[in-house]
Amino acid sequence: MGVLGRRNKPAAAGVAVVALTAVVCLLPVIARAQLRVGFYDATCPNAEALVRQAVAAAFARDTGIAAGLIRLHFHDCFVRGCDASVLLTVNPGGGKTEREAAPNNPSLRGFDVIDAAKAAVESACPRTVSCADIVAFAARDSINLAGNLFYAVPAGRRDGRVSNETEALLNLPPPSFTAKELTDRFR
Ligand SMILES: *[C@@H]1O[C@H](CO)[C@@H](O)[C@H](O)[C@H]1NC(C)=O
Repeated sequence: MGVLGRRNKPAAAGVAVVALTAVVCLLPVIARAQLRVGFYDATCPNAEALVRQAVAAAFARDTGIAAGLIRLHFHDCFVRGCDASVLLTVNPGGGKTEREAAPNNPSLRGFDVIDAAKAAVESACPRTVSCADIVAFAARDSINLAGNLFYAVPAGRRDGRVSNETEALLNLPPPSFTAKELTDRFR
């Protein structure tokens, strides 16, 4: 770069523009790259194994819990993204929580499994693994146990601090939706 600059200043300016353009174009990629597979490899290497143990223990008692945990993840993600807001029992802004909303209460289940997984992970590595990642891992493990499919889960989600009943009612697709309405909402 120094050689280029000495010999030909306009070329150096051109390089700077190209570099700036590259940085600007890379920003969305960097933003997406915040979630990554193996996010806890250094900070809590057993995190995913501990979650899997909790899910496997629950599945051994009741195979139906797999469907419950997949639905928990889906209902979490539709409201403010996959941020574990569905787990919150208090709405800091006042009013009812997402968890209390009719699409979730009383049918949503698996909270006890997430609590057990979180307790195991907290005792291994305190204050390291987010509840949102635990919910995402547990849904993956449920699919793996029930359907023998596996996918790697990019992690690094942050837990939400807002849980609002109205947002759950507005965002969760009702059972009356047509296939088109469902695919539109999923998109
Ligand atoms: C909940 O969300 C609704 C819809 O976005 C908003 O109007 C309401 O103020 C929120 N309530 C609280 C307590 O945050």
